[in-house]
Amino acid sequence: EQMECKHLKKRNMYQTLITALAENIFTITINRPEKLNALNSTVIRELGEAVEEIYQNTAIRAAIITGSGNKAFVAGADISGFAGLNREQGRKLAKEGSDVFFRIENAPKPIVAAVNGFALGGGCELAMACHFRLCSDLAQFGQPEVNLGLIPGYGGTQRLTQLIGKGRAMEALLTGNLINASLALQYGLVNYITPPNELLEKTKVILNQITGKSPLAIAKCIAAANAAVGNEKGYALETEKFGESFGTEDMKEGTAAFLEKRKPVFKGS
Ligand code: COA
Repeated sequence: EQMECKHLKKRNMYQTLITALAENIFTITINRPEKLNALNSTVIRELGEAVEEIYQNTAIRAAIITGSGNKAFVAGADISGFAGLNREQGRKLAKEGSDVFFRIENAPKPIVAAVNGFALGGGCELAMACHFRLCSDLAQFGQPEVNLGLIPGYGGTQRLTQLIGKGRAMEALLTGNLINASLALQYGLVNYITPPNELLEKTKVILNQITGKSPLAIAKCIAAANAAVGNEKGYALETEKFGESFGTEDMKEGTAAFLEKRKPVFKGS
């Protein structure tokens, strides 16, 4: 019963997340299913807070990030919040999300993405910031920002290149085409595919193997493996170019067209 109370208390802490702690595994469920769990400023702020909980709560030995509903993990940053932002505000938007994603990547405990559906734009970037990924056979990955006259802003140009290689990443970034679950497995973007109702269970089986080991050794492995990849200049350039996009007519047209459910007409200005 005490566990139940704790759950309820945790649930009420966040507006856009459901969190639960069981057997030392902390599950964060992004919960805006009517907007396909799109990342607005509240979700980004609350994700940051939940990640700090992972760092600080010694009862947490591993974490899972997943999405609510059976359609989407996260369908991207919330496009409806983009209208009217200028270049500097665009840059700030990218920086705030990127900072949270770096905290995920550099966490001393494993944080794994259980991708239950669309992982697009910021959703794909969130999954890639996690230490590794599993997905359901319904999952689709992609960086479709180019269709909005925009580029990824939460590390997508960098981590997609690291994870699947430059040629495949270039194609995905430049076409905006989606990568289905079996291609994601072939590319090494995910480690396993499961039926939708087995995704969390399979993720927990793997995490249970990790939580029994020395947390000190786990933290050192993560830090050392992270040191094998990454290029600070690349991330900074991405943030800068994301901000620049917000000063273009093409980005205004692309995002307006998405929200008006029509095809954009890009003029290259
Ligand atoms: N930001 C804001 N709202 C979003 C969103 C996003 N990234 N992705 C989906 N939504 C909203 C839709 O506007 C729609 O809202 P409405 O019901 O109020 O009109 C709702 O979520 C359902 O999405 P819808 O597009 O109707 O579902 P679908 O099944 O036809 O298409 C997708 C699903 C994922 C293919 C489509 O939603 C999509 O392309 N999303 C944007 C992906 C993207 O470009 N992400 C990068 C953002 S930088």
